Amino acid sequence: AKVAVLISGSGTNMGALLYAAKQPDCPYEIVLVASNNPDAEGLSLAQGEGIATFAQSHKGVDRAAFDAIMQQQIEKAGATHVALAGYMRILSDAFVEQWDGRMLNIHPSLLPKYTGLHTHQRALDAGDKVAGCSVHLVTPELDAGPVLGQTEVAIRPDDTAETLGARVKLAEHQLYPRVLSAYVSRDKNPEWLVAQVRERAM
Ligand code: GRF
Repeated sequence: AKVAVLISGSGTNMGALLYAAKQPDCPYEIVLVASNNPDAEGLSLAQGEGIATFAQSHKGVDRAAFDAIMQQQIEKAGATHVALAGYMRILSDAFVEQWDGRMLNIHPSLLPKYTGLHTHQRALDAGDKVAGCSVHLVTPELDAGPVLGQTEVAIRPDDTAETLGARVKLAEHQLYPRVLSAYVSRDKNPEWLVAQVRERAM
């Protein structure tokens, strides 16, 4: 599979996807890293690794037109899949439909809990004992697509949103390459997807 990764910031999950792709048995390669933020730190990481990048600010461009620009770049790169990794833009329905079943996202909570922002603070405020991260398919409703994999992270009594977030990030970096690999090669193991989705639906 050929994957385009969309980022807006530090791009550490993109880095995890990219380094995992260097393993000879990895079933995907990264063909493009694209960003709506020309200052995203992740862009230089990708460039340093010889990966094609594209950056354009979304400012002053309407959502549909901006997504069409992204779509064009992704197609040009020959991507078969899109991986969102800290991409802080709501996507237009047309873009989401275009990638239906071929676009994944990583989210820093145990979905369906805590969609949206400030997930770690909300878990702490709720007195949760466990936090975690989820990889899910992207559907038009925000953070609501089928969950493909999760990792639980224990919350410590002295955790802050920052300390908890740092541990969840470690878990994210392990989870995302694993789930993306399993997803793009699910034809070799068709039961995998069904099992994932069924388990999470309970
Ligand atoms: C991660 O916490 C991810 O779950 C969320 O955005 C953050 C991106 O972080 N969607 P990074 O840019 O990959 O470090």
